[in-house]
Amino acid sequence: MPMHAQHQHAHFCDVLVIGGGVIGLVTAWRAAQRGLRTAVADPAPGGGAAQVAAGMLAAVTELHYGEEALLALNLASARRYPAFTAELEEASGVDTGYRACGTLAVALDSDDREHLRELHALQQRCGLDAQWLTGRECRRLEPMLAPGVRGGLRVDGDHQTDPRRLARALLTACERAGVVFHRTEAVRLLSAGDRAAGAELADGSRVTAEQTVLAAGSLSGRLAGVPEDVLPPVRPVKGQVLRLRVPSAYRPFLSRTVRAVVRGGHVYLVPRENGELVVGATTEELGWDTTVTAGGVYELLRDAHELVPGITELPLVETLAGLRPGSPDNAPLLGPTALPGLLAATGHHRNGVLLTPLTGDVMAEALTTGRLPEEARPFSPGRFTPSSLAPPAWEVPPFQEQPA
Ligand code: GLY
Repeated sequence: MPMHAQHQHAHFCDVLVIGGGVIGLVTAWRAAQRGLRTAVADPAPGGGAAQVAAGMLAAVTELHYGEEALLALNLASARRYPAFTAELEEASGVDTGYRACGTLAVALDSDDREHLRELHALQQRCGLDAQWLTGRECRRLEPMLAPGVRGGLRVDGDHQTDPRRLARALLTACERAGVVFHRTEAVRLLSAGDRAAGAELADGSRVTAEQTVLAAGSLSGRLAGVPEDVLPPVRPVKGQVLRLRVPSAYRPFLSRTVRAVVRGGHVYLVPRENGELVVGATTEELGWDTTVTAGGVYELLRDAHELVPGITELPLVETLAGLRPGSPDNAPLLGPTALPGLLAATGHHRNGVLLTPLTGDVMAEALTTGRLPEEARPFSPGRFTPSSLAPPAWEVPPFQEQPA
């Protein structure tokens, strides 16, 4: 086909979202609700990392040193989950599997217990609700736990949702809100003067847009046409995940999310009301590789078995690997980039499902007003652009001659 014919299909919108995972979809849904003509470009909208993710909403149990700003963002999103779920289920007619079940994080040996004690101290310093339990108290809550469990943290505020249903619900809500789907890949950012102006798609068509949102998960750093210093510094972080089924005779197998650090690795078991039990996850820096490996499956089953020995009785129904969009500080990039007309909603790393409600609200605000809400300002993409890495002049202490 001649080039000029390839470009005969041109589409126009206010907002083009590149990427139809849960982050792209929630951005599109919220933008459409605000009256913006919105389109999404993705070969398989509703896919992506959410098809693999376990869906823990683990602001408190996945807290890490030095990530207090991210904690505030995570907690703000966790607080929105009940109302967000109700609104989304109403808009889509899809049950998203949100379950306010709480989490139990346990220790299997004395090193794990030390690790958990430190986490508990950090949680307390941050004013979070987490209760220390003895091994016996843990087993009273979850009788399937191994007899050797040495203690644990009961966190009643860390819940779960089903990411696959969440994606389906967002897709339906978008369709009902009038979002247009281009079921093909965006291959190049378009620009007009010094502004982003939409994207060229793999089928040769072009979507021109007042504003373009880069929400392509771990692929967000690879779109042609985006200036080098504006490309989000995201990388793929592989996670292998297993899905088992708890036959009805065995239920309830676990009544809440159960997790542990086992010899330095994290394992979690997320029980759904429908009997699915998700076991995750490896954390591997292997580029774009999504192979499920014997080693990955072995490690997950070995650690899960140490935690809950009865797991070996359950049918193993699915093994999958997905790619988390990791950023240099493990936090997302939200809002306008240094290129006018281009915004980012990416880099959510371990917290994409948790941050879905907040991301939708924050991005809709940025798209309609040009301003990022206060709570999201520390997560502006500008924190990674080279010019912002130099401290502002007023932070540089004046040079003082040292006495001889
Ligand atoms: N938040 C769980 C994970 O990324 O594995």
